[in-house]
Amino acid sequence: MRKIYIFDTTLRDGEQSPGVNLNTREKVEIALQLEKLGVDRIEAGFPAASPGDLAAVQAVAAAVKNATVIGLARAVERDIDAAWEALQHAADPCIHIFLATSPIHRKHKLKMEKEQVLAAADKAIRYAKQKFAKIEFSPEDAGRTELDFLCEVTEMAIRAGATVVNIPDTVGYMTPAEFGNIFKTLKEQVPGIETIQLSAHCHDDLGMATANALAAIQNGADQIEGTINGIGERAGNTAIEEVALALETRAALYGAKTGLKLTEIARTSRLVSKLTGMVVPGNKAIVGANAFAHESGIHQDGMLKEKTTYEIISPETIGIKESKLVMGKHSGRHAFREKLLDLGYELADEALNAAFAKFKDLADRKKNVTDEDLLAMLEEKLVDTPEVFVLDTLEVHYGNRSTPKGTVSIQVEGRGVQSGTAEGNGSVDALFNAIDLVTGEPVELDDYSIKSVTDGKDALGEVHVVLLQDGVSAQGRGVSTDILEASARAYVDALNRLIEKRKAPGRRDKMSLI
Ligand code: KIV
Ligand code: ZN
Repeated sequence: MRKIYIFDTTLRDGEQSPGVNLNTREKVEIALQLEKLGVDRIEAGFPAASPGDLAAVQAVAAAVKNATVIGLARAVERDIDAAWEALQHAADPCIHIFLATSPIHRKHKLKMEKEQVLAAADKAIRYAKQKFAKIEFSPEDAGRTELDFLCEVTEMAIRAGATVVNIPDTVGYMTPAEFGNIFKTLKEQVPGIETIQLSAHCHDDLGMATANALAAIQNGADQIEGTINGIGERAGNTAIEEVALALETRAALYGAKTGLKLTEIARTSRLVSKLTGMVVPGNKAIVGANAFAHESGIHQDGMLKEKTTYEIISPETIGIKESKLVMGKHSGRHAFREKLLDLGYELADEALNAAFAKFKDLADRKKNVTDEDLLAMLEEKLVDTPEVFVLDTLEVHYGNRSTPKGTVSIQVEGRGVQSGTAEGNGSVDALFNAIDLVTGEPVELDDYSIKSVTDGKDALGEVHVVLLQDGVSAQGRGVSTDILEASARAYVDALNRLIEKRKAPGRRDKMSLI
């Protein structure tokens, strides 16, 4: 079996998804989980974009020991220097330099002729070579670049010292046959191609990112770039879990496999979804909630007779276990601890006590506590944010003929418990207005979404909000059996994150350089 290297760009291209903004601790948390998943390479960010981005890449580089950590750079010395500053202490550093090569980009964006593009890329790679042993070069918009020029660019990159040449379908324009042909041609025509690795980087604008990546593999690609859950710029990137499971499930066809620990996929997907706030659609391949659900009678009948009638991948393959221990209010600490271990959580005593208290509170309100409930509860705060505000109590007065009124009391750092009452267009709005009154933070609600964690009247509700203040955005999560409480908790969580961001300036809000 040929090994396919996995280059994860969830923290860079994935973070370019609209509305996503990860802080340094969230990036490190995701990077450590990617390391557990077994990805070979982690693109942690774009160090030249801002001092905050540089610090985040530095933090990931310090934390990750078993994967190459990569920083993105334009083909200019300033970016290469910033990448080196961020990565020089990484266990295995690599720089990813990109420069557009397509006629559209050359004419309208770069205003450069072919020779100028070749010279600029050559100079940048040679400059980076003085610092980095590993260099990936990407001819941006390679998919729409003349094939003979792409061969010329690739040859130049190899001569200058690139160790990986990545072929991006930047705008998701390629079909599998066309994209595969690029790899075939490069393999056949570029001198020295056998000395480097060829990589594929696809976007999903026409829904073909995974198919294109697989076509690249069939035509000689050594590495696939992608993101968890397929998040990313516009319609997103190739979903890593889709490529990994396609190679696993159709091993005889592809004759290639990744080094991923597939049982970590479900957990990684959940973590990325929670920290980015990007909900995974129910019908998403591999990691969607319905990916293993069988609704129609005929399918259910088939499944009962023999699973393989309708199931080509078992949920256990990606780390979804069938639950044997049902938890409820009579469950003790020992069973709770066993259950958490089963779900992959080994908590120290203090954290276990806190989680057990939370579980008991939940079990008082909900008859059966499912695995999903426990995971939602445990993962409500995946990364500790310093809390300037802690929600204490809340009350809502609602009637369909009267104006809703919300009252909250909040523990405010340095000021003790403060209360406030406000009216609103609805119960959630009234609560948010009351929180604004108490905290005195002028914010705008940019996004609000709610989802039910499980079925049933007593299901846990999970709320996600995005708040904006002076162009800076922060997201928050809240989980409760009551959606008003979940909403208030999410809002307060987002406020705390906003304040944390304000205290750590320099992290620009969006990837503004590309
Ligand atoms: O899509 C793209 O072209 C990119 C490059 C920076 C590789 O993300
Ligand atoms: Zn991209």
